Amino acid sequence: MPLIAPSLLSADFSELGKAAALLHRSEADWFHLDVMDGRFVPNITFGMPVIKAIRPLSDKPFDVHLMIAEPERYIEDFKKAGADILSIHLEASTHLHRSLQAIRQCGMKSGVALNPHSPVESIEHVLAETDLVCLMSVNPGFGGQKFIESTYEKVRRLKAMIHAQGTNTLIEIDGGVSDANAELLKDAGADVLVAGSYVFGSADPEKTIAGLKAI
Ligand code: DX5
Ligand code: ZN
Repeated sequence: MPLIAPSLLSADFSELGKAAALLHRSEADWFHLDVMDGRFVPNITFGMPVIKAIRPLSDKPFDVHLMIAEPERYIEDFKKAGADILSIHLEASTHLHRSLQAIRQCGMKSGVALNPHSPVESIEHVLAETDLVCLMSVNPGFGGQKFIESTYEKVRRLKAMIHAQGTNTLIEIDGGVSDANAELLKDAGADVLVAGSYVFGSADPEKTIAGLKAI
């Protein structure tokens, strides 16, 4: 059964506390928090102060997805803000191996996120340092985009790589996830599903989360 990590990006930011409380009482496993800097991606969202503000509202793991340039500069700051899992982008990291080690040394689970164009083979040599691989199934920057179908093949390839190396790395899918693809993603080998607009754009987000959990 995949873990469900709803993204607060699609929540009503004027009522972020309410959205966090909703995720806390729902069947969601993790909170997914999308940090964007207007450089690595065109959009700007929120950073450490917002994460710190919602941290007391739940003890569920905070899965922080950094879509920022030079992410290695902020590893300790996000730990202090309350991140449990910190993902940085392959495409933003010149020294990925070192940064993943730094994330673990800081006491967090290490994550690497891959843009749709990046082959899973490009992280073959850092899998042992990686607790989570976030496969982007849309181009990062915005919620509500269409799921890219070639993701299934990437999940299968990555799963085979993880098995071959014998690591415990989790595969997370981020972007365009809904009831239309959740089951296929699970069958392909996904361990964590992120869903933003599908959850917060629905009439009853708690029920939508329960529906994803039930696949
Ligand atoms: C996109 C973010 C996603 C986003 C997903 O750049 O990384 O986490 O919130 O939103 P949906 O589920 O609407 O595609
Ligand atoms: Zn994300």
